[in-house]
Amino acid sequence: MKRKQERFRIIEGLDNVIEPTKANYNSIKGNWRESHFKNNNPITIELACGRGEYSVALGKLFPERNFIGVDMKGERIWKGSTLAVEQGLSNVAFLRTQILLIENFFALGEVDEIWLTFPDPRPRKRDIKRRLTSPRFLEMYQRLLKPGGYVRLKTDNTLLYTYTLEELQQRTDILDLQYTDRVYESPLRPECFDIKTRFEEMFAAKGETIKYLRFHF
Ligand SMILES: C[S@@+](CC[C@H](N)C(=O)[O-])C[C@H]1O[C@@H](n2cnc3c(N)ncnc32)[C@H](O)[C@@H]1O
Repeated sequence: MKRKQERFRIIEGLDNVIEPTKANYNSIKGNWRESHFKNNNPITIELACGRGEYSVALGKLFPERNFIGVDMKGERIWKGSTLAVEQGLSNVAFLRTQILLIENFFALGEVDEIWLTFPDPRPRKRDIKRRLTSPRFLEMYQRLLKPGGYVRLKTDNTLLYTYTLEELQQRTDILDLQYTDRVYESPLRPECFDIKTRFEEMFAAKGETIKYLRFHF
């Protein structure tokens, strides 16, 4: 508990974390490039980022792009945000919010790419609408993304993977859908840059294969 409070205190003092305590929390929408990153570079958001392994690793690989990890748990964001500061990655930021509220923080077409990294599979039938690839989330992604911007999902979970493929395949507005249930044995592997998140490490240790799919609208 004490450690958690300490981490909350630390992220309160970090400029790369946008959360309710920050002055720009209600004004960042539509202004990420101008007021936060101070460049005009493309923006990738990582939803359900946890410790933000993708945001930090991609930020290092692509200094000419901006990355924003999004999660509701401040304690997890603490990890990615402090790492980004230690590594001098001014192109990496974190947003603490419920993903359902994401449109309060990004304007239409403000985002170039969306990564979903091991989101909770929400296996119960009554939770289907909470899956990050359920129709209401797909509609939101379509509004946030620039035309042609890719959505990328990495998961260990067969149910979420097959659910998502079925959802996408029954729509008529999905383009360039590519998928694999074994990304490390697939030609799609380079698209994931071999970045391993905490949950990927945990699931892989249990023998789960890692699934990946991507598409744009
Ligand atoms: C299984 S973890 C994956 C974390 C990280 N991407 C990884 O692969 O290690 C799922 C993450 O989603 C976050 N999360 C779940 N539902 C969320 C929501 N509705 N809004 C924001 N974050 C959410 C949780 O806090 C958690 O950090």
